[in-house]
Amino acid sequence: MLVLTVLIPLLGFLNQAAAQAVDAWHLDTMYTLITERLDPIINPNGVSSHAHRILGGSNFGANYNYNLYDSSSCSSAAVQADNSNYWMPQLFWKETNGTFTPLKAGTRFYYFLARNKPDIPVKAFPPGLRMVIGNPNAKDSSSTNLPAPAQGFICLKDHFSSPTGDKAGPDFNFATDCPQGLTTTIKFPPCWDGVNLYKPDGSHMAFTDNLQYGSCPVSHPIRLPAIMLEYVWQTYNLRPGVPLKGNLVWANGDTTGYGLHADFVNGWDTAVLNQALNDPNCVGKGEMTMTACPVLAQHMNNAAALACRPARGVLETIQDGVALPSLPGCNIPWSSGNKPTCSPPVSNPGLPSGLTGQDGSLTYTGSDYPLPSLTSYPANKWSRVGCQGGQNSLLNVIQYTDAALTPARCQTYCSEWGMQFSALISGSYCQCGTGLDPAAFMYPDAHCKQPCSGASGFTCGGNGKLELFYNPSSTTVNHPGVTDPQHVGCRKEGNGGRALAASYISYDPMTIEWCKNYCIAQKQPLAGLEFGRVCMCGPSFANGGGVPQPQSYCNAPCSGNSKQICGGPAATLSVYNLTLPGGPGTSSAVTSAITSTKSSTNAPSASGGTFTVTKTVTVTAACTAGRKKRSLRHFDFLH
Ligand SMILES: *[C@@H]1O[C@H](CO)[C@@H](O)[C@H](O)[C@H]1NC(C)=O
Ligand SMILES: *[C@@H]1O[C@H](CO)[C@@H](O)[C@H](O)[C@H]1NC(C)=O
Repeated sequence: MLVLTVLIPLLGFLNQAAAQAVDAWHLDTMYTLITERLDPIINPNGVSSHAHRILGGSNFGANYNYNLYDSSSCSSAAVQADNSNYWMPQLFWKETNGTFTPLKAGTRFYYFLARNKPDIPVKAFPPGLRMVIGNPNAKDSSSTNLPAPAQGFICLKDHFSSPTGDKAGPDFNFATDCPQGLTTTIKFPPCWDGVNLYKPDGSHMAFTDNLQYGSCPVSHPIRLPAIMLEYVWQTYNLRPGVPLKGNLVWANGDTTGYGLHADFVNGWDTAVLNQALNDPNCVGKGEMTMTACPVLAQHMNNAAALACRPARGVLETIQDGVALPSLPGCNIPWSSGNKPTCSPPVSNPGLPSGLTGQDGSLTYTGSDYPLPSLTSYPANKWSRVGCQGGQNSLLNVIQYTDAALTPARCQTYCSEWGMQFSALISGSYCQCGTGLDPAAFMYPDAHCKQPCSGASGFTCGGNGKLELFYNPSSTTVNHPGVTDPQHVGCRKEGNGGRALAASYISYDPMTIEWCKNYCIAQKQPLAGLEFGRVCMCGPSFANGGGVPQPQSYCNAPCSGNSKQICGGPAATLSVYNLTLPGGPGTSSAVTSAITSTKSSTNAPSASGGTFTVTKTVTVTAACTAGRKKRSLRHFDFLH
């Protein structure tokens, strides 16, 4: 009966996993080791506040350290190389006479084995790893501390004849009976930070961008098997035909179901698990039972699993189907608000000394899980990091669009602006940044294969995916060909209005010095030159303008000095910051002139649909004789 119960939900999950086309193992023969109030993670060397239904290695107790658990003499999981322990809270049926009957459950687990990159196998759990997921006090889906699909409740109706008739619910309060049992599942995160073996806030582990499939974030680069723990509660054996709603309670008193949580402590034989994870007979074959993996099959022993009992002692006896006058511990059924307290207080059973002992380290100190590190990249060189991130995964990002993008052009731009990260996105976007957001994801290279707009032989990222390069030496801002200390780069015009919006003038013969003096006279700290002959001034960048551009985009010779550059034709300005030293007059005199009367500046309108010329310049005649006079039509792009 037990085996049948456990197998029932298999088909549904098979279909789901097949759709994702990823490797997964499931272990279908797994028995309950014991049900008692122990939780070595949350209550080390103490009694837990509520009862758990515990599976796995025989050395389970009130403390956890890997060597002790790894050396268990048996496991209630058929694969005897796995002496890990897994547990959920015990589920009880609330009897009408006020007693509570522990429900029997068939149990099993899945390991989903999606990789970060096709050529990097999933790694065995590090010795000493502990995980707790879910929130025992959750009373609705928003307080579970889990991504929504990580908790599952399925009412099994007539699974073999019509699996589609199974009902998934947000919690365990199904309005009907579940003739083939109630499945509760919970998924553990597969991405590890490589350092911490346990953190109370769970931050040593992370989900991928797609729960257990997808890719790990940069902050948690080590990919471990993604555990899904599944219990099928035999509600039908206890109360055939009776609707579940209102009759169930988790061991901690939660009657909503959302308090579902689960724990894992690693007790695997690391060598065996790693061997299986690297064996082409066991991975690359989609979904399979662990028994179909030859390495693991050697360690299967159903009889040993069935006979396995806790070796270090037992805290208490909680027997399936035998009603208890109250939930073990202080656990009064509760559906909202604060957890009820007990008066008089409930006293705990004495803890047998065999169940206590030394806890293992909270940090990993071995060398089997090297972390990708930027320090290994050579100086003075752009090196490929990989396909990473999302659109916002660089820090202090600047970006430009390039119709002729190549990796080299993007790297030149990032070098000019002194940034260490250079990324190509969607074929034609170049981004630079000073750091990588730890929450960015690491994708397989296949996600970054879009051809570059400037050279189809190169790949320039993907939709929202960054083809990322790193050069640790790119730290100095350097605009080639421009030595003026007040120059602050080639900058983008505003969008729908000018970037420097206080005053402007079109003047022949324009020079950089002329424009700077003009803006000082206009009492504005920023001067920008564009189209070779236009000077603009402003207090700061406006209308979304000022975005750093490649220096090559500012390439228009000044109308008054062809050796100087006065912006570019592609909506780009050469910008000078007049408050920096090295310009006309002393910088302090300029600064005080600018700041003293800045507020009185009469700025021409730069908004709206037309460009309003508020000053007519007539000084052009002497110096532009014989030169084709430019008109303000050149500003049309702005509007
Ligand atoms: C309460 O009801 C349950 C289920 O019918 C039964 O097993 C148990 O013996 C009853 N206990 C008492 C004290 O009546
Ligand atoms: C101009 O220089 C001042 C310091 O004098 C600085 O605070 C300001 O951010 C600079 N602006 C730009 C756009 O470079």
